[in-house]
Amino acid sequence: MTSAARTRVLTGITTTGTPHLGNYVGAIRPTVQASRDASTDGFYFLADYHALIKCDEPARIQRSTMEIAASWIASGLNPDKVTFYRQSDIPEIPELTWLLTCVTGKGLLNRAHAYKAAVDKNHEAGKDTDADVTAGLFMYPVLMGADILMFKAHKVPVGRDQIQHIEMARDMASSFNHLYGEHFVLPEAVIEASVSLLPGLDGRKMSKSYDNTIPLFAPAAQMRQQIAGIVTDSKAPGEPKATEGSALFQIYQAFASTEETTALAQAYAQGIGWGDAKQVLFERIDREVAPMREQYQALINNPAELDRLLLVGAEKARSLATPFIRELRHAVGLRALSSGVTAQAVKEDKVALSSFKQYREKDGLFYFKLVSPQGQTLLQSLGFEAPKEAGQAIGRLQSEGAAALDALAHLFQPSTPDGLAVVLTELIKMAKSVNLDKK
Ligand code: TRP
Repeated sequence: MTSAARTRVLTGITTTGTPHLGNYVGAIRPTVQASRDASTDGFYFLADYHALIKCDEPARIQRSTMEIAASWIASGLNPDKVTFYRQSDIPEIPELTWLLTCVTGKGLLNRAHAYKAAVDKNHEAGKDTDADVTAGLFMYPVLMGADILMFKAHKVPVGRDQIQHIEMARDMASSFNHLYGEHFVLPEAVIEASVSLLPGLDGRKMSKSYDNTIPLFAPAAQMRQQIAGIVTDSKAPGEPKATEGSALFQIYQAFASTEETTALAQAYAQGIGWGDAKQVLFERIDREVAPMREQYQALINNPAELDRLLLVGAEKARSLATPFIRELRHAVGLRALSSGVTAQAVKEDKVALSSFKQYREKDGLFYFKLVSPQGQTLLQSLGFEAPKEAGQAIGRLQSEGAAALDALAHLFQPSTPDGLAVVLTELIKMAKSVNLDKK
């Protein structure tokens, strides 16, 4: 396969915590496995700019970056085969973030789940809507869009909570391509369907926010102790135990072969004591983790080597990012003045606006559509009883943009799957041109 035809897979890991068994089973292990697929090019990075949105403790950011980098490499990610880097080592990413910011409707960002959740929480608490909400949280999806679009990723493996962000990245790519020509690849989210979430010490999903995690690379003695703390029922040794709903059993299953799992199920039925079951679980996990733990410790003890590996990765990444951002800057008009520009070219740029067309159909109803300068229908309304209704809908689209697109969604048929982003971009562009003319 030529390099252009290869599938690019990209994912980021926010550097705010210490990797735990849930991260390993749900993300690290399957991703490392997938990274060995010779038909794909993998881009894996430490999302440390994203970490700043959630965390203002410098030492924690630094420590987490080190632990996550060491964990991924110790778990088998091969930095020679993939591009493994730190987001903050790529200055082209914040630069692209700005270019995307200028083609992203604010209304699109208003709808982001994380921002909306913060706003809703404030609302319920009777606080100002935006209390304690940073512009960083609001801009989170744009930075993530830049991460993805910068490397023309086709596939982005993420958790379910991130699907909306990938859709937004597609919207940004569509808008930019629509305005400035085909520069970006439209990415797709990939959801690991087979991975069931690992339960934590208390039986709920293993997660830092529940404080119920077992660190992946804790020393063996500590791991044994933590496993001893997994909740069980109070059945005595000798009493048969249920595998259903047993956190211990589910964790075992994530590490064991089918035969091993069957054997533990039998032991449950025969009344294995919880202490013994925990010993079985510890030994099984340790069998997989112990060899990696050694390399993990070696890396943690040699941070200069981690720095070096990450910088090599950043250099590989920048060999793509640097020429690409140059192309994008040129596309938007951040160009050498000596490359020439005529007054005529300015005029030509300016006339390219979409427009609303209102008309009546044979069915007697009144319709409107938004038509691009090239004559393509971008938005098609359904029929209205009166011309005034159609006019009002157009008015709201012009004054409210994204909000009206949401509120009036039942009245339109977007012409393409990515059509709404393009419509939004056109509405913004039409409004911008009115403002420019006023100045
Ligand atoms: N937001 C992602 C998460 O919390 C991390 C991330 C940042 C990411 N940039 C990305 C994931 C780009 C995929 C692609 O999980």
